[in-house]
Amino acid sequence: MRAVDIITKKRDQFELSKEEIDFLISGYTNDEIPDYQMAAWAMAVLLNGMSHEEIANLTLAMANSGDTLDLRELGSTIVDKHSTGGVGDKTTLSVAPIVAACGLAVGKMSGRGLGYSGGTIDKLESIPGFSANLSTEAFIAQLKQIGIVIASQSMDLAPADGKIYALRDATGTVPSIPLIASSIMSKKIAAGADAIVLDVKVGDGAFMKTLESARTLAEVMVAIGKLNQRRVIALLSPMDQPLGSAVGNALELKEAILMLKGEGPADYREHCLNIAAYMLLIANTVNSIDEGHQKAARTISDGSALKKFCELVEMQGGDSEFIRNPELLARAAHRVEVKAECAGYIQAVKAQNVGEACVILGGGRAKKGDVIDSSVGVMVQVKIGDRIEKGQTLFQVHYNKAETIQNAIDKLKESIQIVMSPVVPPPPNLGVIGL
Ligand code: URA
Repeated sequence: MRAVDIITKKRDQFELSKEEIDFLISGYTNDEIPDYQMAAWAMAVLLNGMSHEEIANLTLAMANSGDTLDLRELGSTIVDKHSTGGVGDKTTLSVAPIVAACGLAVGKMSGRGLGYSGGTIDKLESIPGFSANLSTEAFIAQLKQIGIVIASQSMDLAPADGKIYALRDATGTVPSIPLIASSIMSKKIAAGADAIVLDVKVGDGAFMKTLESARTLAEVMVAIGKLNQRRVIALLSPMDQPLGSAVGNALELKEAILMLKGEGPADYREHCLNIAAYMLLIANTVNSIDEGHQKAARTISDGSALKKFCELVEMQGGDSEFIRNPELLARAAHRVEVKAECAGYIQAVKAQNVGEACVILGGGRAKKGDVIDSSVGVMVQVKIGDRIEKGQTLFQVHYNKAETIQNAIDKLKESIQIVMSPVVPPPPNLGVIGL
C-alpha cells in the first residue's frame, strides 16, 4: 500500500477500507509516513467527510496505536469528560476535582490548545513543575492512589491522536466531524473510562458552528462509545461567547481555582456543576441531575474539591502553593482596557475573535511546536444581554509584547456588537444526546 493512493482515494470521495486506515495510522505513528502526506489526507477528510464505518475504523486504529488501559482491576467506575473545544473553556480544571471529591475515579487524557481554542494541558502547565507527561503505569498508580489524574497524549495512550492533533492545529484541519470524533473517542477508549460525558460546543467559538452539525458530531461520538461498550452522553452547550470571564492559560487556571473556592463567574460555575451532575448520574452515583448538582456544590462549600485539586497538582510534580494562592501564578507585564464606544445592549462577544486575540498575544500556537506564553490573555467583562454605558470596560487585555497589542485590540473590537434594544441572553444548555 502507498500513502499517496489513500490520499487520492479520499480526495476523489471514495470510502477507505479498514486496512487502508490502519496502514495510514500505524505508518504515521511510526514516522514512516511524513507530516505532509498526513496533512494532505486530513484536508481531504475535512473536505469530503467519512462514512460512519470509516469513522469507527479510524477511531479504533487511533485508540490501538498505543496502549489501551483496562481499569477493571480498580473495581470502581471510572468517569471522564471531554469538551470538543471552546474559548475560555476551563471546565475540566474544576469538574475533575469536584467529581473526584464526590468519590468517583476521574482518569482523564487531555489535549493542548487547538487553533484559537485553549487546551487543558497548556492551562495546567502554568503551574510551575506540573507535568502531564505520565507513563501508563504512573497513570494507573495515581488513579488508584488519589482517584484523579489528568495526563497529556505524550504518554503511550493514543499516540496517533497526539501527532495528528498537533498537525491539524497547524494545517487548518481542525473543524471536521470525522477528525474530531475519532480524536476524542480514541483517547476515551484508550484511557479506559466506563462512563463519559461529552461537552459538545456549538456556536461562533466552537468548531461546530450550527446546532445541526454539533448534534451530528454528538450522535457519532455517542454511537462510537456504545459500540465500544462505554456509557456515553453528550451535552450540547452554547459557545457563542467565551465561558466565564478569563481567556488565556494562567488567567483561566486562576478563574478555575476561584470557582473551587466558591467565587468566579456564575455561567462558568453553573456549567461546571451541570457537567459534574451528569458525570455523577451516568456513573450511577446519584438518581437525578438535581441531586448531582447538590452533591457537586457541596464539594465546593466544604473545600474538598479544592483539596483534591491540590493533591492532583502535587502528585504530578506541581507546587500546590500556586493553587492555594493563585496570585503567585505568572502575570503579564502590562494591562490595557478596551472600552465601549457607545451605550446599548451587548448582542455579541464573538468567542472566536477573543480566542484569536489570545493567540496573537502569544497565548496559543500559530504553528506546531510553538512555545506559548501562559501569562497573557483577556478578561472579558461583559456577557450577551448586558446593558452597558459608553466608556464601560469590555475587556482587560494582559500582554507582554508591545508589538502584539494593537492587533489583539482590533480583534477584540471586532468581536463586540452593541445594539439599542434589549437582547435575550442565550440559554445555558441546548440539549442532551444519549441519555
Ligand atoms: N478535542 C480533541 O480532543 N480533539 C479534537 O479534534 C477537538 C477537540
